[in-house]
Amino acid sequence: MEDIKILSARFGKIKPDSVEEYINAGGYEGLKKAVTMQQEEIIEEMKKSNLYGRGGAAYPTGIKWEQAYAVKKDPKYLVCNADEGEPGTFKDKRILAEDPLLLIEGMTIGAYIMGAKEGYIYIRGEYSAIQRIVKSAIENAKKAGYLGTNILGKGFDFDLHVVSGAGAYVCGENTALVESLEGKQGRPRQKPPYVKNCGLFQMPTILNNVETYSCIPCIVNVGGERYSSFGTEFSGGTKLLCLSGNVVNRGVYEIPYGLTIREIIYNLGGGVKDGKKLKFVHLGGSSGSCLPESLLDTRICYDDLKKNGLSLGSGAVLVVDDSNCVVDYLKAVMEFFEEESCGKCTPCREGNQRLLELLEKLSQGRGTLADIEKMKSIAQTMKMTSFCGLGQSAPTALVTLLKYFENEFIEHTAGKCANGKCSMNSKGVN
Ligand SMILES: Cc1cc2nc3c(=O)[nH]c(=O)nc-3n(C[C@H](O)[C@H](O)[C@H](O)COP(=O)(O)O)c2cc1C
Ligand code: SF4
Repeated sequence: MEDIKILSARFGKIKPDSVEEYINAGGYEGLKKAVTMQQEEIIEEMKKSNLYGRGGAAYPTGIKWEQAYAVKKDPKYLVCNADEGEPGTFKDKRILAEDPLLLIEGMTIGAYIMGAKEGYIYIRGEYSAIQRIVKSAIENAKKAGYLGTNILGKGFDFDLHVVSGAGAYVCGENTALVESLEGKQGRPRQKPPYVKNCGLFQMPTILNNVETYSCIPCIVNVGGERYSSFGTEFSGGTKLLCLSGNVVNRGVYEIPYGLTIREIIYNLGGGVKDGKKLKFVHLGGSSGSCLPESLLDTRICYDDLKKNGLSLGSGAVLVVDDSNCVVDYLKAVMEFFEEESCGKCTPCREGNQRLLELLEKLSQGRGTLADIEKMKSIAQTMKMTSFCGLGQSAPTALVTLLKYFENEFIEHTAGKCANGKCSMNSKGVN
């Protein structure tokens, strides 16, 4: 398979905020070409590229942009979601820190298409040093005529602003992010209306992930079909994956869609750490699904993952070895959601608390078979009735681990934890 580096090609090779070094390394070719094309032509290329949003929901970007382009309202805004709050996800950080001009170029092409004059990059507060790099890259792009007024002498203007998040996971949800950008409490809005029709300041807004925007210059440069061919039939291009957990070589890897999860863990990641056996893989961050060894040959592409009831989410691939207990692992996951639930709706606010209590009970050796059934029922209610994606996806890890490891949950009701990790062990129950 071709070793294609589209997003990570310049990582570590240039001074990140230097326009000169960026251009010398092939930067701004996409924008230069874009301004010679009609807006509709670029959107067509994006549709051909099979680019799906890289922030988690995997919405087709070309379609989203076509719909926003069709809205006849002014002004329009561009927003970049750089909140990167999903546990196990640290890929946007690499683009922001090592090639921010790639993101800025992608957003500028977006502004050219939409006729947007203002854009916002919403960066998580924890990335304060990175915020400074992005701000400096914006200033340098302005000085060089690639941002600001009359960009490339083509008579279009676009300015970018960096806004800092304040540490709430829910602010990564697109409508909560828009609320937060407007200076309000970051809580999700009712949808519809969708952000593309009625987003920032109630105006049409294109909101995409850092990685999504960063794919655009290449699509314009090589054309949608060529870009798509780097991946599989229905999943175009490449993806940044974040490999973490009990694996030898943790880090960010750019892969063409189509590699299997096994190839990623064993060829790129060097296998499970300390010669242990793999127990499961948590795909897509804490809100994603867990898969057992038997599904490792699934290819990383949206269609194959969907067939197996999985999704790639933000691109986190967390390896868990067989010294870990599923109940103990889930407790940590649910603690996160219990903490991050914004409290706006009952299923999520209450559901996360109840699930955590039931897991704690199991972990102490006090759980019953009825508790396991109760967890399944709460999870289903949360999925069906929560107001936003946080509550809808919070029980996904639990549901999938119950599907593949139900026996372990049942053993806990008999006071046994094979891995010796649960609190019942310290109390001498086991
Ligand atoms: C609770 C929650 C947190 C999210 N966090 C992020 C995030 O940190 N970054 C991101 O790009 N998308 C995040 N999303 C997805 C966004 O709502 C949205 O789908 C995405 O930013 C759209 O960009 P894309 O189409 O380029 O993926 C989150 C969604 C939910 C429900
Ligand atoms: S699902 Fe959770 S995070 Fe989303 S609105 Fe309801 S309480 Fe808030």
